[in-house]
Amino acid sequence: MRGLLTLKDLSTEKIMELLRYAMKLKRGFRIQYPDKKIATLFFENSTRTQYSFQCALMNLGIKVVDFDTQLSSIAKGESLYDTVRTFEALGVDGVVIRHSKDEYFKELETIKIPIFNGGDGKSNHPTQSLLDLMTIYEEFGKFDGLKCCIIGDISHSRVAHTNIEVMKRLGMDVYISGPEEYNDHCAKWIPIDEAVETMDVVMLLRVQFERHQEKMKISVEEYHEKYGMTVDRMNKMKENAIIMHPAPINRGVEIADEVAECPKSRIYKQMTNGVYVRMAVISDALDGNL
Ligand code: NCD
Repeated sequence: MRGLLTLKDLSTEKIMELLRYAMKLKRGFRIQYPDKKIATLFFENSTRTQYSFQCALMNLGIKVVDFDTQLSSIAKGESLYDTVRTFEALGVDGVVIRHSKDEYFKELETIKIPIFNGGDGKSNHPTQSLLDLMTIYEEFGKFDGLKCCIIGDISHSRVAHTNIEVMKRLGMDVYISGPEEYNDHCAKWIPIDEAVETMDVVMLLRVQFERHQEKMKISVEEYHEKYGMTVDRMNKMKENAIIMHPAPINRGVEIADEVAECPKSRIYKQMTNGVYVRMAVISDALDGNL
């Protein structure tokens, strides 16, 4: 399959090449694809991923075909495969897809145009991880030996699952923390108060209420106190350590209002970098390399 479905398909060399390309684009390198059209198909809500893909496409001179699930034939029962096959038949040069089904792309193996995964269920979010990695690399100039703790609803998070796999491959020490009910043991668990004092990167996650079968066992106030990035915890972090979050953020739940835009926060830089990594991925695919 062409495009980018999961980072597991990419070597660490290829990941570094894409990050370097994204940084070159950020420095002002210009490349245009005026004859291309790409459709964005978001079957789950999205602000950052959807619109940063659209901004990336516009920056590359590519026309955006904006697919509205409510107004489309999905409402008439058309399948994901038939929808994507239709866009291929219309002459679209690639599709960006976000879907609640884990590995939805396995149904699309016969599709020939590039598919860019904007998130599948709780499994993969490759462009989010690339923008997280770019933000970390810009900060520290390396990955090897850096310590990162991802805190929150780990078990329902495609961001955590994607990042943990790739960060370990890049030589980072990755830990998890947060409520035991969301611990799926995909990395070593440590208490949050140990994490804030020892990590280079503290990444917070939103509680993924929309993926829960049962109500959270504690109130949001209690969550904030026990597992949130409070001002007190921020003050205990190492001098050069940074705070990240894929957003949307819930101020006062996983992150205190004052911390979201504090000097340690890279949350808005992550969003900016998202445009450049998506430009890099799309350009590389249209050049026949992905
Ligand atoms: C994340 C997602 O959708 O997986 N957001 C994002 O893409 N920036 C995380 C979330 O929704 O909490």
